Amino acid sequence: MAAPLTVDGVDSSGGEPGLILTDSSGGEQRRPQFGTRFLTDPRQVFQHNAWDNVEWTDEQEAAAKKKVSENNHPLPPEKQEEYDCRANEYWNEFYTIHENRFFKDRHWLFTEFPELAPQCSINHKSHPEDHRDQKLCKEFAALSHSDEEFPGSSATYHILEVGCGVGNTVFPILKTNNDPGLFVYCCDFSSTAVELVKTNPEYDPGRCFAFVHDLSDVGANYPVPDGSLDVIVLIFVLSALHPNKMQESISRLARLLKPGGVMLLRDYGRYDMAQLRFKKGRCLSENFYVRGDGTRVYFFTQDELNELFTEAGLEKVQNLVDRRLQVNRGKQLTMYRVWIQCKYRKPLVQSSETMEDKTSSA
Ligand SMILES: C[S@@+](CC[C@H](N)C(=O)[O-])C[C@H]1O[C@@H](n2cnc3c(N)ncnc32)[C@H](O)[C@@H]1O
Repeated sequence: MAAPLTVDGVDSSGGEPGLILTDSSGGEQRRPQFGTRFLTDPRQVFQHNAWDNVEWTDEQEAAAKKKVSENNHPLPPEKQEEYDCRANEYWNEFYTIHENRFFKDRHWLFTEFPELAPQCSINHKSHPEDHRDQKLCKEFAALSHSDEEFPGSSATYHILEVGCGVGNTVFPILKTNNDPGLFVYCCDFSSTAVELVKTNPEYDPGRCFAFVHDLSDVGANYPVPDGSLDVIVLIFVLSALHPNKMQESISRLARLLKPGGVMLLRDYGRYDMAQLRFKKGRCLSENFYVRGDGTRVYFFTQDELNELFTEAGLEKVQNLVDRRLQVNRGKQLTMYRVWIQCKYRKPLVQSSETMEDKTSSA
């Protein structure tokens, strides 16, 4: 596979199949069917385009930390404010320039997130507990379901993608998941991106509803009621928000999930190549940067994401780091990528604390 395109640090690949991932608890989860190309002899590095599960040396980690701290001189508050207020305009400009040519379809989604097409999953081993949980979820859903009419209200499996861009996740889901009960919602705060989704010949209003929505505007309504979604997908979008707005945004989204519903995330990890490449003068706050085109990006640790999801009342199913070495053989360049992948579930029975939070925020 060719090395990913990057324009001003925006990553077009966002990962790919062949992942070996490390659990946040420190244990390793190995998936023998993917990502088994390990670099054992450093002299071989330019023999392939990518190496899996690359161990970072202490020196490498220390050098990355040093580089990041040297660059930690935030821009003045008025500049920060401008990037925040005009965030969607910068993304509109991005999509006006690149249209749907920039990001690639996220086909790895189905191996990493079988919940997106459960009935045709090749990687999802069903477990007796799953059946019990699914049955309970359906019972809860039946109890909590209002008669409210909303787009896709008669469907039985509801997926929402937030920050959908031009549909590189949504269209593969619609193509792959042929469950007649499926309905997919997708939103982005870039009206240009949403327009590109809606004018795509694969956009089928009978199975999909695209709308403009700012994830960080927690007062704005979603077109679905609370407790109605089975899956929420966040692919390289949370990192685009101001860190101060992340918690409220995730908590708001968590309310949309059914009991037993899951939130799936893949995003940039701390010391990813894209972070280390930022030049001085692009730092907004710790680990948060603005690209040359005005779009912003944060680089997460696993613990930070764990905190965001658990604070929102969700339970960890998965929190993994994917460290990959990509190689540009032509230019003899090595690129150390760090991505984090998370799966958090809304408990079937919510704790009294979360219920109290919910009541007080209602
Ligand atoms: C890096 S792109 C990823 C696009 C898509 N998820 C993908 O993987 O191809 C980030 C997307 O998030 C959107 N975005 C950024 N901030 C947002 C916000 N506050 N609310 C909704 N969408 C947002 C941008 O417009 C952009 O489409």
